[in-house]
Amino acid sequence: MINIAIDGPAGAGKSTIARRLAAELGYVYVDTGAMYRAMAYYFLQNKISPDDEVAIAGACSDVDVTIRYVDGEQQVILNGENINGVIRNEEVGNMASATSVYPVVRTKLVELQRQLAAKENVIMDGRDIGTVVLPDANVKIYLTASSRVRAKRRYEELQEKGISCNLDEIEQDIIERDYRDMHRETSPLKQAENAVLLDSSDLDVDGVVAAMKKIIEEA
Ligand code: DC
Repeated sequence: MINIAIDGPAGAGKSTIARRLAAELGYVYVDTGAMYRAMAYYFLQNKISPDDEVAIAGACSDVDVTIRYVDGEQQVILNGENINGVIRNEEVGNMASATSVYPVVRTKLVELQRQLAAKENVIMDGRDIGTVVLPDANVKIYLTASSRVRAKRRYEELQEKGISCNLDEIEQDIIERDYRDMHRETSPLKQAENAVLLDSSDLDVDGVVAAMKKIIEEA
């Protein structure tokens, strides 16, 4: 199986790019952030504090996360329920960042991710794919962009949806999330030694896709 690992900070464009590349190359796209979001959604629904490691560990044994594909789109199933439509917001994202620090949460999901990569050609994105989940991936890319550019992209997305927001606040949120994801003890976000660094600050989506294709072909 061919495995392509894409890691990088929140808002770098990983999912948009990985989804497009997967469609063009005929690979399966695996969004691992959605799995951490599913767990976070469960903790929020059950009013479990992100600081309560004992409660989180207890809840982990009650949670079953799987994925399914509908028209090529990954759907996350939490205890039998498709929750794809309710996990893409800041509240769930921040909870996912806060609770993904616990090994008990990670072990469960890493297992699922490895099983998927063993049976399909995948493009998998996340924070620890090249470093921990798939250390032998055929291609590893670390996709990043400045915090200001990432905040602007998020700001424009929200504006388009008619949601009022503040650019400085969004950037501050991104900086805090980066810090948490990069400084946790277990599987922190970092560029794998053999990953290719791609900075998308000055590129549009087509530009990033083209640059990635080049990296994959050269590998
Ligand atoms: O990529 P995302 O924004 O959907 O991810 C949400 C959070 O989940 C992210 O802030 C940290 C965590 N995460 C992780 O720890 N490891 C991954 N492979 C993917 C996401």
